[in-house]
Amino acid sequence: NIGDDDDVRTEFRSLISSLPSDINVQGKKLCNYQGCWYYEKNLHAVLDYQKHFKPLDTDIILSSYPKSGTTWLKALTVALLHRSKDGIQSHPLTSDSPHGLVPFLEMNLYLKSSTPDLTKISSSPRLFSTHMPLHTLREPLKDSPCKIVYVSRNAKDVLVSLWHFRSKIEKKEAEISSLNSIVESFCKGVDNNGPVWDHVLSYWKGSLEDPKHVLFIRYEDLKEEPYAQVMRLADFLGCPFTQEEIHRGSVEKILNLCSLCNLSNLDINKTGVSWNNMDHSIYFRKGEVDDWKNHLTTDMANKIDMVIHEKFQGSGLKI
Ligand code: A3P
Repeated sequence: NIGDDDDVRTEFRSLISSLPSDINVQGKKLCNYQGCWYYEKNLHAVLDYQKHFKPLDTDIILSSYPKSGTTWLKALTVALLHRSKDGIQSHPLTSDSPHGLVPFLEMNLYLKSSTPDLTKISSSPRLFSTHMPLHTLREPLKDSPCKIVYVSRNAKDVLVSLWHFRSKIEKKEAEISSLNSIVESFCKGVDNNGPVWDHVLSYWKGSLEDPKHVLFIRYEDLKEEPYAQVMRLADFLGCPFTQEEIHRGSVEKILNLCSLCNLSNLDINKTGVSWNNMDHSIYFRKGEVDDWKNHLTTDMANKIDMVIHEKFQGSGLKI
């Protein structure tokens, strides 16, 4: 077995060394696999996932491009699935962060081990998350009826959110020069999990072709009509609200529980630390639509708009 594993490592290393590579704005090496850029260690995890993951029919996988509302989608999904169980007191969201409750496949589970023990996943159904594009995610899923939910967000807000996030990780002020570099790499398409347009379009097309198994949600719609979108999510996941729950105000309770204000004020999210040594609090900032207007110059915004317009033309998608 150890020999087999060595063979697999050698196979992965030789595959990775044959892939196109580039350097991102932070000077880190990225490799392009199936049209998407990854850091090498995450790519090993992606390959392990593709080789070893065995889906269960009931699995739910939450997907996103980073900074698109992943944390919110995770919290909402946990809350929806938990609602028939205990009262708020023992709610899982009060004892772990949304990222602890819905672990990333390639950035957590398969990063720590090439064959993680998924029997230890305590949620039922099992909940996973990913930043892989749909075609890569789907390889080991084959004909599995498991459900995939994708959250997308306005690209300019994603960039500004990413800028703040990276600055916090690097413990630096968010400076205009680093925003400039992020915009550059966005427009070039060379960034971790990018290009964003291929990422979003893989799920957009997937949701049109296979709406029973792929749900596409926009962050802006969640902000504008949270009630309707959470009902939609519940229907898709096969746990629709009953009339009685609606009268009891269950939808509102879930929305309040998962609001940025409430989640970010829970002790676990104020003081806890994630699997990757990051403070849980780093995942919560403003959570507003169009915050980019406070940060991007007209030139930057125009540049991004031009790329987005070109890449999304004819897709019917507005981001
Ligand atoms: P901002 O930086 O614009 O505030 P992700 O979860 O994919 O990492 O995305 C992080 C973004 O989602 C951040 O955006 C964060 O503030 C916002 N966010 C986190 N939790 C949220 C919630 N419960 N409701 C709305 N937005 C939320």
